[in-house]
Parts: sequence; C-alpha cells; structure tokens
Amino acid sequence: MTVPELEIHLDESDLARSLRDDVRAGLTAPAKWLPPKWFYDARGSELFEEITRLPEYYPTRAERAVLTAYATEIADVTVAKTLVELGSGSSDKTRLLLDALSRHGSLGTFVPLDVSAAALRDAVAALTAEYPNLSVRGIVGDFTRHLRVLPGGATRLVAFLGGTIGNLLPAERREFLTALRAVLEPGEWLLLGSDLVKDERILLPAYDDAAGVTAEFNRNVLRVVNRELGASFDPEAFDHVAVWNPADEWIEMRLRAREAMRVPIAGLDLVVEFDEGEEVRTEISAKFRREGLARELESAGFALRRWWTDPDGLFGVSLSQAV
Ligand code: SAH
Ligand code: AVI
Repeated sequence: MTVPELEIHLDESDLARSLRDDVRAGLTAPAKWLPPKWFYDARGSELFEEITRLPEYYPTRAERAVLTAYATEIADVTVAKTLVELGSGSSDKTRLLLDALSRHGSLGTFVPLDVSAAALRDAVAALTAEYPNLSVRGIVGDFTRHLRVLPGGATRLVAFLGGTIGNLLPAERREFLTALRAVLEPGEWLLLGSDLVKDERILLPAYDDAAGVTAEFNRNVLRVVNRELGASFDPEAFDHVAVWNPADEWIEMRLRAREAMRVPIAGLDLVVEFDEGEEVRTEISAKFRREGLARELESAGFALRRWWTDPDGLFGVSLSQAV
C-alpha cells in the first residue's frame, strides 16, 4: 500500500521562523509565555498519546464515550462527504466517525490537518491501510493560519476534537471560529469537542498526574526550543505547575524556575534571565459551559443543532451548522 504524500503548508523554514518569533515575543515579555503548539514534536505527540491513557486524564475517554454513542446520529444528520479534522494527532477517536460515515455510504475523503508532521505521517499511513476505499489527504498546517487551504466542493464535516479549542485564548478562539465559518458553505458542519467546567479535584490531577507524564510533556517545549533554536535550557531546572484559574475558567500549565538563571538562546542571539520561582505560562486549557459555547458559536455564524455529553457530564460534544 503506498502512503499518500502529505501536503505541506508549514515547511521547516516557516516553522523555524514562527518558532523564533514566538519564543522571542514570549520570553522577552514581562510575564513570560510560550504557545502550546510547540509541545508537539514527535516526542511531544507521543507524550500526549501517553497522557490520553492516564487514569487521571478523563477527556479522551469521555469524548470517546460520546462519539461511540452518537457517531451514527452524526453520520445520519450530516451525510458528510468529506471529513476534515483539525489538530488531528493520531486520529484515534476519529475512527468512530470514519466507521459511521463509511457505513452510511456518503464519505469519500478524510482530511486530517496538524502542525505535527510526525504525528500526521503515522496517522495517514495507518488510516490509508485501514480505510482502502477512502482518499486520505494529510495537511501539515496551522489551524490558526491555514484554513483556506482546506479542500471544498462536497458537504464537509469539520471535526475539532479533544478540547483543543480550549488551548486558544478567548480572542484567538473568536478569530478561529470566525475564520472557520468564513471558509465553510452554509449548511456545512462543525463537530466540536469541549471539556466542561467541573470540580477542581477532578481537573487538577488531570493536568498534574501522579506518574509525571504531563510534567514531561510540559518540559518538552524546552527541549524543542533547545534543539530548534540552539538554546541551553536545563528542562529539569523547571517544575511543572498546573493551576485552576476560576475567574477565567481555565487550567494554566506553567514551568517554574527552581533557581535564578540566565539561559542563552543562540539562534536568537538572546539571553533570557529568570528569577528564582519565575514562571513561564505554556498552555491554557479552557473549560466550557453549554450556554457560553452556544453563544460563541452563534456569534461566529454557527447554529447549534445537537449537544451531547458523556454519562458523567465531564465532556461536551456539539454539532453546529454554518448558517
Ligand atoms: N485531536 C486529537 C489530538 C489532540 S492533541 C485528540 O483529540 O486526541 C492537540 C493536537 O493539535 C496535536 O496533534 C497538535 O500537534 C495539534 N495542534 C496544536 N496546535 C495546532 C495548530 N495551531 N495547528 C494545527 N495543529 C495544532
Ligand atoms: C490537546 N489539549 C486539548 C490538551 C488539553 O487537555 O488541554 C493538551 C494537554 N495539556 C496537558 N495535558 C493535555
């Protein structure tokens, strides 16, 4: 079986340029930050897959429960001919949708898009073998920049799973939903997975697991910056921190310097200074409520058609239509 080539909209030099811009902006800001998309090199994508199997990390299991229960209804309602998946990673849960849409007989094409070429390459190879009747077109791209390259022409269902929408800041989220609406035709579909607001006693362990896998995932961004920009971070000199921010209803992941240090970043010709205890925010993971999400979808030009949760009410999946 030949594996189709990936369509590359983010080549090595685009990636290097935007990593340089982000690291310079984030690590020279008064409150240091790094965007979460840089977690996902080959190792970061593997660590994320490991996170999805942790006992504390409920979102993947909860979303899988929803998709298992409602994939057939999703296929019946949307009759999608093309399934697009943003931030597709391993596309593991997506197989439930591919199976239901294939059973329905409507589906011809699957378009996974991810910033991580390594994760996408593995997923496309596996899916091409598993779904010989499907055309699988992997796109290496950034869903905040490259939605215009998505193929059109047939009723599309865009899946954005895992709660990855929560990793965007509210303004980025608005921009993303508006940009997505702009590339869809009226009547096309968005299937959105969103993690829900819940007790801190469930949320915090999900982002600070006993085995320390999330801590390694968090520190991986420093390894990426070391390798790609010739920086000299000692990842072990940073503690993993997860806090619940109740005002914004999001989890923040941070890396906290154990001691004062100066870190040269050769590729930027920059030295970054850290005080003891100083933190870098590496991710937000916003948690949602049905009403708020429905409002955000509506103001971007989507109408909410279905809303499901798992039996424990941990995770929400919404099906909306471009209007
Ligand atoms: N959808 C999968 C994977 C979630 S992990 C699931 O539900 O389990 C988040 C995925 O989004 C990773 O594969 C990561 O590489 C990708 N990602 C993160 N930021 C991205 C961006 N800006 N553009 C495209 N992909 C992105
Ligand atoms: C991909 N994203 C939805 C995950 C989340 O839960 O926000 C990333 C993650 N961060 C820590 N653990 C998992």
